Amino acid sequence: MRANTISLFLLAALLLLPSCSGRKVSTVGSDPSVEARVEKLLSQMTLAEKIGQMNQISAGGAVSDYAEALRKGQIGSVLNEVDPVKINEFQRICVEESRLGIPLLVARDVIHGFHTVFPIPIGLAATFDTQLVEEGARVAAVEATAQGVRWTFSPMLDIARDPRWGRIAEGSGEDTWLDSRMAEAMVYGYQGRVSDSTSMAACIKHFVGYGAAEGGRDYNSTFLTERQLRNIYLPPFEAAVKAGAHTLMTSFNDNDGVPSTGNSFVLKDVLRDEWGFDGLVVTDWNSMGEMVSHGFGSDRKDVAAKAVGAGVDMDMMTFGFISHLEELVSSGAVKRSAIDNAVRNILRIKILLGLFEHPYVDVEAARRVQYAPEHLDAARRSAEESAILLKNDGVLPLNASGVRRILVTGPLADAPHDQLGTWVFDGEKSHTVTPLAALRERFPGAVDFVPGLAYSRQQRERFDDVVAAARRADVILAFVGEEAILSGEAHCLSDLNLIGSQSALLEALHSTGKPVVVTVMAGRPLTVERDLPNCDAMLYAFHPGTMGGPALSNLIFGDAVPSGKTPITFLRTVGQVPMYYNHNMTGRPYRGEKLLPYIELEAGQTSLGNTSYYLDSGASPLFPFGYGLSYTTFEYSDIRLGRDSYGVSDSVEVSFTLANTGRYAGTEVVQVYVRDLVGSVTRPVKELKHFERVSLEPGERRSLSVSIPVSDLAFYGLDGVKKVEPGEFLLWVAGDSASGNPLSFKVR
Ligand code: GLC
Repeated sequence: MRANTISLFLLAALLLLPSCSGRKVSTVGSDPSVEARVEKLLSQMTLAEKIGQMNQISAGGAVSDYAEALRKGQIGSVLNEVDPVKINEFQRICVEESRLGIPLLVARDVIHGFHTVFPIPIGLAATFDTQLVEEGARVAAVEATAQGVRWTFSPMLDIARDPRWGRIAEGSGEDTWLDSRMAEAMVYGYQGRVSDSTSMAACIKHFVGYGAAEGGRDYNSTFLTERQLRNIYLPPFEAAVKAGAHTLMTSFNDNDGVPSTGNSFVLKDVLRDEWGFDGLVVTDWNSMGEMVSHGFGSDRKDVAAKAVGAGVDMDMMTFGFISHLEELVSSGAVKRSAIDNAVRNILRIKILLGLFEHPYVDVEAARRVQYAPEHLDAARRSAEESAILLKNDGVLPLNASGVRRILVTGPLADAPHDQLGTWVFDGEKSHTVTPLAALRERFPGAVDFVPGLAYSRQQRERFDDVVAAARRADVILAFVGEEAILSGEAHCLSDLNLIGSQSALLEALHSTGKPVVVTVMAGRPLTVERDLPNCDAMLYAFHPGTMGGPALSNLIFGDAVPSGKTPITFLRTVGQVPMYYNHNMTGRPYRGEKLLPYIELEAGQTSLGNTSYYLDSGASPLFPFGYGLSYTTFEYSDIRLGRDSYGVSDSVEVSFTLANTGRYAGTEVVQVYVRDLVGSVTRPVKELKHFERVSLEPGERRSLSVSIPVSDLAFYGLDGVKKVEPGEFLLWVAGDSASGNPLSFKVR
């Protein structure tokens, strides 16, 4: 396997500075000099100027359209302007022509890369590689800040267990531990280990519970209990706050009837009082105004009062603050202190980012860093590590010297825009290297391209042209899935099978008897069970970004070895939703009862089993959380615990041997799961508590040990207090959430 080189440029950015030990490195609110500057500036501001800072607008037109409002200090932040020349002009008007010269916070959705586009976040999560994810976020920050963007609306931390939900593409999947580690990595990457001109304020979103939208329909209501919030949905946000996240965005959903943008329990009691967050809270796009639609407020003035009362600092595109706060303060409905606190949080971030000292960017220098070779290299490595090998009957890796003719087919084989995935504003498809382009470059004259389908939803009865080309080929490489538009915000699906006639295309290809290697590009885990028999190997690449083509070519021909693992459960059918690995046991767990149609129905038979499962699809998914194959095999042995009893302040030491028992060098994502057998409330059948990537040469055996702090087993129990409850526990060390045999230990 080609050595994974981390470019010196980015390696230095990561390794020369303190390791990410989970402590705040770019701290908000704890620097007395910053606080003194905040107070001094605040004391000089009029009420109107304070309210202006709380107003964020989406800049669509000419800078001159906003000049008067800028001079009056009526705008505190703009989003959706990325031209460095225009950003410099925006800042110049604020700094040189407004009374107090307060610079703007310039924001953008830099979700998985700026110009250089990385795999979509659920693909990044599949790497289980926090260092690589941090590197990618750092690349995004270097490119975006060079153009004047100093605030990104990322990382999205919404735990999601429903692949019908289009925004599952944007998060890190179903697991709280994985999501928390990815959150930390992206905060460190965006903001940097120290605050400098390449620091871009992270924005952890969407606070909170948005991914639990009923029916998997975006913006829909959620009904999460406080215990579910505290044990599952809030921890990634808390981890990000501890990592020093500068900002947070409220979510569109109402949870148990309360829209997040007006929810003082989460925005004040939890975020501010319990966690000590003193960054900036911004609404989502018009989420304040949407509280009227929710029926939570009577009009824009009413919801503006509710939002600022709940702890919102900045209004994105409702114009509720700029229109009504002055009147609300005059009437006493809103306290001046609430305005002052909001403006403190805004000014603090602007000071921390150094915007007062350096509001402008070097336009020429900005051009030079975009798509830098080391950025593209990081994107390719991320795409390689994000791909999950779901099936391989031995056909992969292909032997490049043994292949004369390759057929490339499928609607995603040469889709430079769609390969980038959802939430890409600035990545240019002209820079995308598609699988077709990469394969043609590597095998000049040996690649036939017959797409078969122009787009995923196309209906087609016959594929004579593709079949004819397949008969001439040694191997068929099919790229199927869904275009970028079929996932992301508001793009939810009620059927997760390969859309259109793609499955029919794979069937036709399989009928030729030639080896078929399928790569799926999608924004979510699709239900691919019916397609597995029609391929000899399946790689799941999500949407792999700018360098997806070279990455997939390297994986298919063995220059890279798949190491990706499923960050979300892959279902057999959409009817199984929601099915996730860390579920509760229930009183009647499935015990392997037979399924239809294999049951011999005897006359008068009245029961087909009385446990928790589906007669037609059972109780197991197609692929469990944490699953992924390699070209080699790994064996776990000698798994031992240091002791069999621990105190709450101890760490559980587990040692084991990992061996590479195959023919290829490869990387295993070692996973450690724990189960709390009995609690004051029912507990999940297992929970991920550690993962690490271990690379081994063929035949290599390595003794490893992992330390799991007992404190990591704490949860909010019946009394609502977070603590470790003494008792019996089980622990697994394995390569996915469904493998391995547990060891037991006690906490006293
Ligand atoms: C959108 C999204 C949010 C995004 C914001 C600004 O509606 O919900 O994630 O950051 O608007 O584009």
